[in-house]
Amino acid sequence: MEHGRIVLTEGDITTLKVDAIINAANNALLGGGGVDGAIHRAAGPQLLAECRTLGGCATGDAKLTRGYRLPAAYVIHTVGPIWQGGNNRESELLTSCYRRVFELAASHNLRTLAFPAISTGAYGFPAAEAARIAVREARQGLELFPQLEKIFLVCFNSATRRAYEQALAE
Ligand code: AR6
Repeated sequence: MEHGRIVLTEGDITTLKVDAIINAANNALLGGGGVDGAIHRAAGPQLLAECRTLGGCATGDAKLTRGYRLPAAYVIHTVGPIWQGGNNRESELLTSCYRRVFELAASHNLRTLAFPAISTGAYGFPAAEAARIAVREARQGLELFPQLEKIFLVCFNSATRRAYEQALAE
């Protein structure tokens, strides 16, 4: 489904030929499960080698690496908050993930980006609120950074798709 420059898409983010895919990583940036594990498997060991040079990443921040064996040229690794009930700045930190990714993408002149639903898997962030933040920040990113052509929001399951559809309709 297409909503201007924001596109909802199904499936595995590691197959997408975009300028950068976004990784929902952890503070160590040394791999893990979920989308992080899938990205490291598909990119190959050089990705981990580059990640080791980065000194980790704070929650709400983002760091860029090359994509190695991925069809995507770059990976932007961001660290979402772990959901702790909602009173621990979770929404603010998730917002910061999207903003830092857009700043990095703009500074590298990237035009096409694909995001997983950051924090909504192992980190337990409620899908509906995460989708509202993702859509709001994607719209703002497209306004602030005109060189951005397309933002793919990747739905790995039907709950995520429904949450994005609802957020896009608001
Ligand atoms: N393509 C697109 N989306 C995916 C894929 C994929 N190949 N695999 C999973 N998802 P999660 P988090 C979706 O748990 O909640 C890792 O161990 C998944 O269905 O990957 O931010 C890290 O190392 C969900 O909608 O990330 C961290 O320790 C979304 O991606 C921790 O998990 C995010 O789920 C980060 O947790």
